Amino acid sequence: MIRSTLSYYNRQRAHDEPPVGGTSEPAGESCDLHVAIIMDGNGRWARQRGRLRTAGHVAGTRAVREAVQSAPQLGITTLTLYAFSSDNWSRPRREVTHLMGLFHRHLESECARLVDGGVRLNVIGRRDRLPAPLGRRIAEVEERTRAGRSLHLRVAIDYSARDALMSAARRLAAGGPQTRQAFERYVSEAIHAPGGTGDVDLLIRTGGEQRLSDFLLWESAYAELFFTHILWPDFTGADLGRAVQVFKGRDRRYGGLSQQSKPSQDPSLQPERAV
Ligand code: FPP
Repeated sequence: MIRSTLSYYNRQRAHDEPPVGGTSEPAGESCDLHVAIIMDGNGRWARQRGRLRTAGHVAGTRAVREAVQSAPQLGITTLTLYAFSSDNWSRPRREVTHLMGLFHRHLESECARLVDGGVRLNVIGRRDRLPAPLGRRIAEVEERTRAGRSLHLRVAIDYSARDALMSAARRLAAGGPQTRQAFERYVSEAIHAPGGTGDVDLLIRTGGEQRLSDFLLWESAYAELFFTHILWPDFTGADLGRAVQVFKGRDRRYGGLSQQSKPSQDPSLQPERAV
């Protein structure tokens, strides 16, 4: 039974990622990509093996490590991982407690590896509802990795894009400049994102569902979407590379016509826009 289910997912893997021309091209040169991933499928991965959902989350940490290690070679400079949505608090208490402990232990065990690899880590989302020891661990790892320049890793925990947008809207309504720049600053402050909002280039969701689940709604306005049936614990660095190759074959028009480049993000080159 398990064997046939797994082979189904392997067939899906082939179906999801059609061969892309030019895969021999060295991936990532001169790229500066922001890739965001909705890591879905841990529970199903565990169920297929007759194990508890928590085993799926543990297996998911291996895939996190692999994605982080592979990202810089693929031209990814920012990687944002959706680890825990604000709606995930509604899961059984046992699972939530397990996940919080897993985040804590993972940050502890990975910190030296992140520093060695030049990875700067930030956790985005609300901090005030996290267990206090986890909050302290996050602050410590953020501080120890702040000089990292090869990859900006952002892990979203207790994150809700709608809540961040509501918070920014309330601040805008309270007075001050009614500009897009101010709004984006409020959004990034709501989620403690030190580098600003940061447009997403490629948004990947594993696990077969095709929805955004309240993740980076503002930042993904022009993101290319990539959905795969591969369950998160099975998602490898090579799978990430395939997604990047598919992305490179896409024609990004930003509402304009083919061959036109992305409008400048430099505020000094744009008219001030009311939100
Ligand atoms: C969604 O799969 C996954 C989560 C809610 C948790 C994500 C956590 C990890 C990948 C663990 C490690 C993360 C870090 C950052 C150390 P699901 O449980 O909803 O799966 P299902 O849809 O198959 O039930």
